[in-house]
Amino acid sequence: MERIHRVSRGERAKLLAAAGYNVFKIPSAAIYVDLLTDSGTGAMSDRQWAAMMTGDEAYAQSRSFVEFESVVQDIFGFKHVIPTHQGRAAEGLLFAVAVKPGDVVPNNIHFDTTRANVEHVGGIALDCVDDKGLDPALEAPFKGDMSLTKLAAAFEKYGRERIPFVMLTITNNSGGGQPVSLANIKAVSEFCREMGVPLIFDACRFAENAWFIQQREEGHGRRTIQEISREIFALGDGCTMSAKKDGLVNIGGFICLNDDDLALQVTNLLILREGFPTYGGLAGRDLAALAQGLREVVDPEYLAYRIGQVARLGRRLEELGVPYLKPPGGHAIYLDARAAVPHIPQEQFPAQAFTAALYLEGGVRGVEIGSLMFDHKDPDTGEVVHPVMELVRLAIPRRVYTHTQLDYVAEVCAAVMNLGERLRGLEITYQPPALRHFTAALQPIGGGDLLTGETT
Ligand SMILES: Cc1ncc(COP(=O)(O)O)c(C=O)c1O
Repeated sequence: MERIHRVSRGERAKLLAAAGYNVFKIPSAAIYVDLLTDSGTGAMSDRQWAAMMTGDEAYAQSRSFVEFESVVQDIFGFKHVIPTHQGRAAEGLLFAVAVKPGDVVPNNIHFDTTRANVEHVGGIALDCVDDKGLDPALEAPFKGDMSLTKLAAAFEKYGRERIPFVMLTITNNSGGGQPVSLANIKAVSEFCREMGVPLIFDACRFAENAWFIQQREEGHGRRTIQEISREIFALGDGCTMSAKKDGLVNIGGFICLNDDDLALQVTNLLILREGFPTYGGLAGRDLAALAQGLREVVDPEYLAYRIGQVARLGRRLEELGVPYLKPPGGHAIYLDARAAVPHIPQEQFPAQAFTAALYLEGGVRGVEIGSLMFDHKDPDTGEVVHPVMELVRLAIPRRVYTHTQLDYVAEVCAAVMNLGERLRGLEITYQPPALRHFTAALQPIGGGDLLTGETT
């Protein structure tokens, strides 16, 4: 339990302006309900805390590593398990050894760190999600599915030798936390095998994805989350994992691989950058908590409550007329900013303006998943391409907030909607060269207050 309190609206206005209308820069003590991310923000269980007390801090081959490796192998089934301190470290290591400049990595939709890490080594990150995943209003059970047509077109265009592997993000975070069906995973896997390229999962929310398969895909209703997970991973050749999500820990990640040579190259780089291969940038106690978290995350009662809580927030928003990406995702609700504030054009960051207003009006912190995060240059023409969707993600930390707190969030969303054209667009005053949304500074167009335009 931790104490939270709500700072006054006047104070929030000052903090927002000082943060350059970027909620990443607002002190967490001034946030009332923090839905910035579900990553590393969950509450650990009694058993996880107990496991931390008995963590083995031996530098090499600790008991905690042996236990962690055995739990991961039990669920994921891959030959090599390489711990890292979080998901992007796993991505960075894998891409550093497997992606060359000019290579192309297809994914359903790359998450921001995945895209940035591919681009960092000179690769092209290509999104191949099925078109149903790009229509926020469409109700469909598996909007994270990859389009086999787009995937085949990528092989046609770039050639097999420029594609070191294909990725599938389960669930598809940047596309609304939407799951990928087992049928689609099988089809992508078959395609990859025919082409002779590995299939690597971005597995952060694998248990939530498996739960959706159990609930929504015919023929899987009686199978356990472990059985479904095992089948998913048996269709691939490895995974990167941010354990800050479905590992139920505050820090941690790993890479799994079947290929001995690739695993060896990754391990050698790991020693250089993260640490010895049996701790990979984590303490022994972190590995112990992670092993226990992985055991807990596959519990169907936990998953039903967790995903049910997100769906309940969706129902409240529906009642209040706030548009969001349908159906609710596994870990988050994604407000549809283009529908909510249609008067703000994409060049003026509508989803970021909505995110800033959520803080101003109610002390709620969400995160923009739109032009600020995903504008990029077309590799062929060099022109700036805006993402198709402008979303505000309200990510629900695991085992943290009550239904009442989330009801309050829905009311704040409705209040921001009701601001109508009073809410102004934003312009960038500072941006770094990569992953700009984390540290960029913005201001309302032409300066002044976010709603009135007045300067104080
Ligand atoms: C789908 C996906 N991949 C990768 C990452 C990166 O993980 P980390 O934040 O642990 O570096 C995230 C984090 O939010 C994610 O959602």
